[in-house]
Amino acid sequence: MSGFPTHLLSMDDLDVAAIGEVLRVADSFAEVGRRANPKVPTLRGRTVATLFFEDSTRTRMSFETAAKRMSADVLSFAPGSSSVNKGESLRDTVETVQAIGMDAVIIRHASSGVPAQVARWVDHCAVINAGDGCHQHPTQALLDVFTVRQVLGGGDDGLARFRGLRVTIVGDVRHSRVARSQVAAYAALGAEVTLVGPATLLPPSLEGWPVAAAGHDLDAVLATTEVLSLLRLQGERGSGTFVPSLREYTASFGLTARRAARLAPGTPILHPGPIVRGVEIAAEVADLPAARITDQVRNGVAVRMAVLFLLLGQGRHDGAARG
Ligand code: NCD
Repeated sequence: MSGFPTHLLSMDDLDVAAIGEVLRVADSFAEVGRRANPKVPTLRGRTVATLFFEDSTRTRMSFETAAKRMSADVLSFAPGSSSVNKGESLRDTVETVQAIGMDAVIIRHASSGVPAQVARWVDHCAVINAGDGCHQHPTQALLDVFTVRQVLGGGDDGLARFRGLRVTIVGDVRHSRVARSQVAAYAALGAEVTLVGPATLLPPSLEGWPVAAAGHDLDAVLATTEVLSLLRLQGERGSGTFVPSLREYTASFGLTARRAARLAPGTPILHPGPIVRGVEIAAEVADLPAARITDQVRNGVAVRMAVLFLLLGQGRHDGAARG
């Protein structure tokens, strides 16, 4: 684990070896999750704070469950009821949180780059990006890769299975931190990624995007897709102004039952959640066995346990000792 970074800010922080390490450690934590008492003492005495400046259901609960299953203490910061409302700056908030004695800060923010800025301010605590603006959401990409590997198998560490794997990412790529993280993860593993969406919601240029192709015809790629990954329209980031109407969007890019039937049998359908039934995915498609959405959520806990272990385990980032 010597190669594991100090903070997890972006998928670009992780090379193939580090991704493989997260997946292997997550395998053993997934086993812990299946026990009657799914708790281990690994992070006893450590304190982890979640600072979510944006809405979240699964990511916050997943990180907090992961930390608690490892016996860490968890503090949950709610900006709406904090001194942010009294005018405290982000920097002062972060310094306060660090002075209280955190070993890790898990941060979500509407502005891209905030976790990286926070990482420059702290000196003895690990920073984990739980989603920043349209930029990155690395643990989401890691749990997606974990889920694909679980479905497709492939022996050894399962990473060879990703080489040349045809992954199609559909929807609001423009505003999606999930897509940016997924593309980085799949590309690192050698997969062949195709982006599909309306022209207004695809990157204007593919420069810097390690993808094989981008296009507007979902129907044309369904038969050859081996992993289908859907994205929600990011209404809170203004996506509504980029599509003529939700109905038009669904007609061209929604995974309807008719489209799902054209996928090769067993092709995993992924979605980071929250899903909006009837828009990017039909209600009945979300409930098909091929839709791995609840597996993704379940796997997210094991993957986040692995990330916390690799950042904090074995004496790394011992804020209490040094602070
Ligand atoms: C995503 C997010 O917040 O970036 N959700 C999640 O973390 N599972 C995707 C989304 O909100 O559409």
